[in-house]
Amino acid sequence: MKVLLVGGGGREHAIAWKLSRSKKLSSLYIAPGNPGTAQVGTNVDLADDDLEGIVRFASDKAMDLVVVGPEDPLAAGLVDRLEAEGIKAFGPGRAAAQLEADKAFSKHIMRANSIPTAESRTFTSFEDAKAYIASRDEPVVVKAAGLAKGKGVFVCDEPADGILAAEKIMVDKLFGAAGSTVIVEDKLLGQEASILAFVDGRNIYVMESSQDHKPVGEGDTGPNTGGMGAYSPAPVVTEKLMDQIIREILVPTVDGMNRNDTPYKGVLYAGLMLTQGGPRVLEYNVRFGDPETQPILMRMKSDLLEVMVAVCDGRLSEVDIQWDSRPAVCVVMASGGYPDAYEKGKTISGLETAAAMKEVMVFHAGTGQKDGQIITTGGRVLGVTAMGPTIAQAKTRAYEAVDAIHFEGAYCRRDIADKAL
Ligand code: AMP
Ligand code: GLY
Repeated sequence: MKVLLVGGGGREHAIAWKLSRSKKLSSLYIAPGNPGTAQVGTNVDLADDDLEGIVRFASDKAMDLVVVGPEDPLAAGLVDRLEAEGIKAFGPGRAAAQLEADKAFSKHIMRANSIPTAESRTFTSFEDAKAYIASRDEPVVVKAAGLAKGKGVFVCDEPADGILAAEKIMVDKLFGAAGSTVIVEDKLLGQEASILAFVDGRNIYVMESSQDHKPVGEGDTGPNTGGMGAYSPAPVVTEKLMDQIIREILVPTVDGMNRNDTPYKGVLYAGLMLTQGGPRVLEYNVRFGDPETQPILMRMKSDLLEVMVAVCDGRLSEVDIQWDSRPAVCVVMASGGYPDAYEKGKTISGLETAAAMKEVMVFHAGTGQKDGQIITTGGRVLGVTAMGPTIAQAKTRAYEAVDAIHFEGAYCRRDIADKAL
């Protein structure tokens, strides 16, 4: 099969690497890809928001499947446009992608289907949001309703901070139009878990659990990022809890999307808070998580391409996925300063040494190539991922590999996976 993968981050390097191991694959293209994906396929110089160019490329080159990695092209309707041309595409169409792209829509789906989530109110006027937040004396979470690269959420222990957050989003328009609506919700307490499932419109196949680390600082301090590291499995997600998550969250979500006439296919990602009262949905994503995908796919033994085709064909019930029982840990190496301003263009060394280490994969994210060198081009630069017999050993291996890699200003959290130890 000829496959085009859309995207160019760490998630896409992991997906490309995994697809490249499929016996069914004849050629793999990645648009735009990164120097990591270039090791396992052919990068195509098309931005992931160039829907026109992507559809034309897929059609001209007679792609058998297009896999869409990031949320933006999904929300913009890339899958609908590919399917209109008769091209098989992995991911939800525009209407179903609103589950991530519009948090007011996702709250509506949750409410309509009794899916457990935080109590919330939706506002389109700053004055109304301000009055509501000021009237409360508990901590609040203020969220831009639209897409904000994982940075549109402010957890505020003081109402005054909540008002400032709403002002940044609604008045200063920090995230542009994505912030014209805000959700103000109750702060939930507990451990977080990411549950990703393949969904073919009807059937659900849950992947192994994982846990992300959103805040930039150790001990979960500082502003939220796209994710600073992840591990899989997450021991807090026991078998019993997983059953509850499937029954109370995944099944009603997929059924609810059908009832709403927005059937869901692709990867459904439920970001959960495991509270004392049970699991609650913090958000949905309509795609693989980044960086959760890196450890999850490293543990997947089955053929990802076969699974993706089964999703597109509505045959997920025929698929069985095998997993490596060993845990995997991914540590994100970021540019100093991220998620605020940071410098780019720093030369990266030690990549080969790290990649040669046992059970280690160095997934590229914000990297580029210049004068034969690999340089930094983004906030999250690399996802250094390792497997081991235990989480502790996987963690040690991942940090050994991190320590072999150097670039000016490199930053990583040193406590990835500690919650599982
Ligand atoms: P989201 O993009 O909605 O998943 O939010 C990003 C992060 O903000 C989550 O991973 C949590 O760490 C935090 N967060 C979001 N909503 C809540 C909430 N209601 N209570 C506590 N923390 C939250
Ligand atoms: N790691 C969180 C996300 O992919 O949105």
